Amino acid sequence: MSDVRQRWGTKIGVVLAVAGSAVGLGNFLRFPVQAAKNGGGAFMIPYLIIFVLVGIPLVWAEWTAGRFGGGHGHSTSPGIFQALWRKNRFIKYLGIGGIFGPFLIYMYYVYIESWCLAYAYYSITGQLSVISGSQGFVDFLTNFQGAATTGTFAGTVPSIIFFLITFLLNMTVTYFGIRGGIEKLCNIAMPLLLLFGIVLAVRVITLFAPDPLHPDWSSINGLGFLWNPDFSALKSAKVWMAAAGQIFFTLSVGIGVILTYSSYLRRKDDVALSGLAAGSTNEFAEVILGGSIVIPAAFIFFGPGDIVEIANSGAFDLGFVTMPQIFTQIPLGAIFSFLWFFMLFLAGITSSVSIVQPSVAFLEDEYNLTRQKSVRIFAIFAFVLCFPAVLFLHRGVLDDLDFWGGNFIIVISATIEVILLAWIFGINKAWDELHTGARIRVPRIFRFIIKFITPTILLLILGYYLATDWWDVIAMKEIDSANIPYILGMRIVLLGVLVLLAVLILIAWRRRGKREYQKG
Ligand code: ALA
Repeated sequence: MSDVRQRWGTKIGVVLAVAGSAVGLGNFLRFPVQAAKNGGGAFMIPYLIIFVLVGIPLVWAEWTAGRFGGGHGHSTSPGIFQALWRKNRFIKYLGIGGIFGPFLIYMYYVYIESWCLAYAYYSITGQLSVISGSQGFVDFLTNFQGAATTGTFAGTVPSIIFFLITFLLNMTVTYFGIRGGIEKLCNIAMPLLLLFGIVLAVRVITLFAPDPLHPDWSSINGLGFLWNPDFSALKSAKVWMAAAGQIFFTLSVGIGVILTYSSYLRRKDDVALSGLAAGSTNEFAEVILGGSIVIPAAFIFFGPGDIVEIANSGAFDLGFVTMPQIFTQIPLGAIFSFLWFFMLFLAGITSSVSIVQPSVAFLEDEYNLTRQKSVRIFAIFAFVLCFPAVLFLHRGVLDDLDFWGGNFIIVISATIEVILLAWIFGINKAWDELHTGARIRVPRIFRFIIKFITPTILLLILGYYLATDWWDVIAMKEIDSANIPYILGMRIVLLGVLVLLAVLILIAWRRRGKREYQKG
């Protein structure tokens, strides 16, 4: 291990990197689907409430805890939790989700990211512009994924080639480290993707309703679909859960990556304003850009009824079926199609490299390995473990990974870390830490929110999961019986990874104990 900890190069660099982690496929693909499925305006009220009461408090909590942990030589939650609660020898094991969670997300995220690169390529080569009708695009997507197959394996040669390219790009960026790889990538990719997003949003908002029979299918009414509030949804637990899940996923909180990224800050670097800036950039990209592209575009071409139907028909249909279909119907469509998919790819890669970093940082910090060696080890493991999502996509493996990595573990980790910071480390100390080097003062009400409201809401969400989804998911009640062996196999592998991580934590601390003992 190098003696000197890695550091961010510039203040704006770290904000762009954290924003890069947050702004991802979740903003442009997941958000519109969640919003459409949960009634548009009905979804936005819980979404905004959860953002203020849980999202932003968690952002501040993670930036604060991460910088504190970095000061103690730890970049991942096992070590950071241990630094926050020195007397408890077991707390580090509760930090396992901060490495396991992102690893699990990585196992499918990078594959979806590679579809974006493929579709950007197909936009330029004209392969998308010759397809017609929704069914044509559905067939193209399922053929590309190999998901139309009834055989054992999905994944086709092109999809595997694009996956390999994307995977290698991810590893290369991480190989060059925090400053030389991730920060450089985000400095270029973030402004570019925001620019592409603005161009696409302006293009969609200036589209006219193409169907003379439905002059009311306008972009303004499309925006209204998302923004006309519907207070009746406040009574629906399902809508609240969907909104909370989206906030966690999109802000990258509870995943472990903000903890890791902020651990590379110096003690006096600001976290209060930087956290707010990164979180706000994400919300701009999600609500303003994400909300002004897919939903209004689909509304203009297909109307309000069909948007909900498309969103319900599959997580990727709005992005990979509806959007390219719309692009075939507008002037310069191939260019806009390229902008759309390449923007998605940039959003994806700036997030996926952040999801790699906790595992790499764990090996560097706790096993004294060089960054290069850590990346090589991660690459071998991840490469093998990404293949279930590639080959067994049609068996529902990806959806199962998304439930565990993208929902369940996030909520558990977020709950543990906020309780740890506010109750064990103590809200007074946490508040002082948050304001060390701060460029703003956080309104005092957030002290109360972080201590009482955020943990209460998180515990309620967890309770809801345990009371409803938990058993059905464990028992695979909603899974097609032909797919059960695949899902079960995947879960056994995941359990193995979890146990391996626990053992790695145990060994790392034993070795650390010995070193400290020898030093006297
Ligand atoms: N925050 C990342 C996203 O939204 C993971 O895609």
